[in-house]
Amino acid sequence: MASDNGSNIMASIDEMMYSVGVETLHPGGLEKTMEMAEACKIIHGSKVLDIGNGKGFTAIRLAQKYGCTVVGVDMSKAMTDYAKMSAETKGLSQQINFMNIDAHQLPFGDNTFDVVFAECSTVLMDKEKAFKEFVRVTKSGGYVADLEMCWRKPPDRKTVDRAFEIWEGFSTMTFEEWRDFFAEMGLTEIRLNDFSDKLRNMTTLYIKALGVMGILKISWRMLKNKSLRKAMLEYDKFFNNNKEYIGYGYFVGRKE
Ligand SMILES: C[S@@+](CC[C@H](N)C(=O)[O-])C[C@H]1O[C@@H](n2cnc3c(N)ncnc32)[C@H](O)[C@@H]1O
Repeated sequence: MASDNGSNIMASIDEMMYSVGVETLHPGGLEKTMEMAEACKIIHGSKVLDIGNGKGFTAIRLAQKYGCTVVGVDMSKAMTDYAKMSAETKGLSQQINFMNIDAHQLPFGDNTFDVVFAECSTVLMDKEKAFKEFVRVTKSGGYVADLEMCWRKPPDRKTVDRAFEIWEGFSTMTFEEWRDFFAEMGLTEIRLNDFSDKLRNMTTLYIKALGVMGILKISWRMLKNKSLRKAMLEYDKFFNNNKEYIGYGYFVGRKE
């Protein structure tokens, strides 16, 4: 699959991981997705917006479990096509609509969705611009939820810059800053689930998700492609060198 959200190596890595069978790229996987869904009170008939849907795993699981309708948005055409195909194969095309658009500008009216859900995607966005849109399209009384890598304590400038560089525009905040940010965006009843201690090493997580065949396929791809290999090693190094800073959690807030 060609990378199409810019010429970035990160999109190629996401696509490579997905192509060998990794279903979802966010920390905590399905377990945390379902916890977040419960916290957002998703029920049969809810209208959910999934921001940066990737391969469509979360949208599909939510639609299957709750009978909700889901719109997924992703700026990668490859991901959108992948997700559409997956929904179609599972007979969910009527229930889920995947759109190839930028989440900073959503083509939906105010108060459209019961829940806006984001996993591992807003760290790649202009958070203020994106969240204004998320809150705008959420119905009053509805929920906005976001699961991201967060800083456990304020990192030094070098760490922030390195994360921005290797993950092409990545920026996150400390748990406290995220909480304040949710409040600034007008969300209330803000809840944090910090699962940093349960998930100390992303590389181990990916190895588990890949399985033996996945590891063999990825190794072969990395052997053939120097830039992919270099980037994967950089990610691993970053995770190892910054254990004290790296944390994971999700926030849920309610629109008044
Ligand atoms: C790390 S992946 C996570 C995908 C999925 N949420 C998951 O948990 O597996 C990040 C996704 O966000 C998408 N993305 C990044 N910036 C975006 C934007 N401005 N608008 C829409 N999608 C975006 C990328 O194309 C990619 O599919």
